[in-house]
Amino acid sequence: MALIALLPGDGIGPEVVAEARRVLDALGLDLTFEKAPVGGAGYEALGHPLPVSTLDLAQQADAVLFGAVGDPRFDTLERSLRPEQAILGLRKALGLFANLRPAKGFPGLEDASALKPEIVRTLDLVILRELTGDVYFGEKGQRRTAEGLRQGYDVMAYDEAEVRRIATVGFEMAKRRKGRLCSVDKANVLETSQLWRDVVNELAASYPEVALTHMYADNAAMQLVRAPGQFDVIVTGNMFGDILSDQASMCAGSIGMLASASLSEWSGACGLYEPIHGSAPDIAGQGKANPCAAILSAAMMLRHSLEQPEAADRVEAAVAAAIADGARTADLGGSLSTSAMGDAVLARL
Ligand code: IPM
Ligand code: MG
Repeated sequence: MALIALLPGDGIGPEVVAEARRVLDALGLDLTFEKAPVGGAGYEALGHPLPVSTLDLAQQADAVLFGAVGDPRFDTLERSLRPEQAILGLRKALGLFANLRPAKGFPGLEDASALKPEIVRTLDLVILRELTGDVYFGEKGQRRTAEGLRQGYDVMAYDEAEVRRIATVGFEMAKRRKGRLCSVDKANVLETSQLWRDVVNELAASYPEVALTHMYADNAAMQLVRAPGQFDVIVTGNMFGDILSDQASMCAGSIGMLASASLSEWSGACGLYEPIHGSAPDIAGQGKANPCAAILSAAMMLRHSLEQPEAADRVEAAVAAAIADGARTADLGGSLSTSAMGDAVLARL
């Protein structure tokens, strides 16, 4: 029996996680679910975006299924109490350094992408984003300069062990896919990136079967829309990965379709699974959200944390079939409600 921590969070999080839960229930596996508040909902219920009881549950669980955090009502709180701190705190506390964000076009959905259909069809990549370091977790603050001006600062830093750990996952993933690894950095400007590049190059000697390339982050942003088919696995730091993964999602069609896994070990161990879209407060509670990213995150959970690859395949096939048959929520140009889209997937399971 596996224990799943359900952390629906804010905005559309509860709506999409509910659909993922229905799909998991329909598989007839031996899963137990326990729900806990997180983000703005955590602050509202227990006075903190990541309440101790929620973190405890996440640490005990075999996997965490996460919705989204972010609520404009709490944006003026001091930073440590804002909803976003919940996901950052979970990543750090659970040691979830490896973030897998696959981006692939869905047959039938080519029109939803901002790219030409023939380009969308070539898209099949994974962005592997380092998740517990970089400028996200460096020293930060506000101070006064010698001239008395207000100054904000966030320190960017990676040590070689952090780079080696994520790059190893990148090489291992590329080996199991199409054998191509592109490391994205900004080594023409940043020392952090120079070290990143040196360490990745050192590791390359152990992976002769993987074709390694390096690309500057600005060029990678351009190449992602120009010719995304050139990429197989992209490995990059926390900040560049944040930006490039949103971009890759729009290449695929809709951010409402893309799932992610955050892992503390390359295989097995506890993982956190979340749709890459945010809490979308503008459409929260209206039944308009696309549950596919959450459902596909549940599929990633089955594969990476629960050793249920066949069940994962079934869920992914059901989503693809629903899309191919024309099931569309509003973000995809259709009119299905969140639960009707869930029904469409369930019907094809
Ligand atoms: C993401 C989000 C988060 C991030 C926010 C909500 C803190 O944008 O998961 O990509 O920046 O990592
Ligand atoms: Mg982001």
